[in-house]
Amino acid sequence: MDPSALSKQQYYLDNEHRYGAHDYHPLPVVLARGEGVYLWDVDGKKYFDFLSAYSAVNQGHCHPRIVHALTTQAQTLTLTSRAFHNNKLGDYLKFTTEYFGFESLLPMNTGAEGVETAIKITRKWGHVLKGIPEGMAKIVVCRNNFHGRTTTIISFSSDAGSHNHFGPHTPGFVPIPFDDPAALEDVLANDPHIAGFLVEPIQGEAGVYTPADDYLKKVRAICSKHNVLMIADEIQTGVARTGSLLAVCGQCSCENACERQADTYVRPDLLILGKALSGGAYPVSAVLSDRKIMDVIQPGQHGSTFGGNPLGTTVAMEALAVVKDERLMQNARRLGQIFRKQMQAYIDQSRIVQLVRGKGLLNAIVINDLEESDTAWNICLRLRDNGLLAKPTHGNIIRFAPPLVMTEEQLHQCVEIITTTLREFEP
Ligand SMILES: Cc1ncc(COP(=O)(O)O)c(C=O)c1O
Repeated sequence: MDPSALSKQQYYLDNEHRYGAHDYHPLPVVLARGEGVYLWDVDGKKYFDFLSAYSAVNQGHCHPRIVHALTTQAQTLTLTSRAFHNNKLGDYLKFTTEYFGFESLLPMNTGAEGVETAIKITRKWGHVLKGIPEGMAKIVVCRNNFHGRTTTIISFSSDAGSHNHFGPHTPGFVPIPFDDPAALEDVLANDPHIAGFLVEPIQGEAGVYTPADDYLKKVRAICSKHNVLMIADEIQTGVARTGSLLAVCGQCSCENACERQADTYVRPDLLILGKALSGGAYPVSAVLSDRKIMDVIQPGQHGSTFGGNPLGTTVAMEALAVVKDERLMQNARRLGQIFRKQMQAYIDQSRIVQLVRGKGLLNAIVINDLEESDTAWNICLRLRDNGLLAKPTHGNIIRFAPPLVMTEEQLHQCVEIITTTLREFEP
């Protein structure tokens, strides 16, 4: 049907509903353009983006430097496959390993592929280097995790919708509670077949659950004690989102260059990145580790047609350069403190919001209603009407994660929109 015959938004909503799989439940808004912290819908209405494509667009929408890198490289060379070398991959590997402080990198495309890659490396390391009998290597995971959507990954998801009816499930995963070092110690001490511990430094999809400040330090010590690989999934938390380069950096206060401050930084054995690694302009993910671990993978044992392609690697290098040049981690740290302080001031006299939690610009508020309620959804619809786009992570939790290029003045405008909207829902 011709778009002019219907409201423009309805035309696009109808087509998606009629011809697409119903695997998402999007907020009813149809976006056509983005720039920095702003999005515009097909009718020209302007919004603040408070989701950043699940923390992929940390550098802001259509960042001119990233778009320039993308379009220039797209006219030069896009894909060679790894059957041949290309003149971008080596530069990317050097740049990115130095940037994050690891010896090697395995390039993939989506976050879930990065997690799958880390699982394979860990299992092979367990069998070949730790001496776990073949086929017996296990990985400890946290309850309420979110690591992606592949068959193996949903095998260890505790979310019924993600998990149920998709079996037979992949065995070899041991769930423990998040933010519980004693549970980790207990399982590692009693099972010599554990090869790795896979953890999100902050559980994003679960509702921005932020663990105790010393949790990751304790995890590191326990994993080292039992010769188990610590695998940090920083797909959502990494690349400046939490006010440090990585969430494993802890409460760093690095001002210019990343110093990996000894008193706060926790170094995982495997680091998984995706999303903002390419500023949301192209799917790029990666697993980083030191040589002795990475070298368990030999030719023919892992790979991807698109992984490490010249377009993706060029975009990722520019996206990472933008993060440093524009001091996005420092900005996220400062604005995050202001945001939580202002939200707390509102919550102190609110009956509809219970609490705000998070780090840097990865935050969430918990609505004072049941998890099954639609209050958070209705608040997000009203936020949309008032010019700000956010999405519930569960029935009663709303995540707030704007692009990190936001200014303080824009943040104040956003807090005003959010608190005005929440006031409409106060009993
Ligand atoms: C922590 C974490 N891991 C993995 C993924 C999966 O990434 P992708 O959707 O790119 O496969 C996500 C996506 O939200 C995530 O937040």
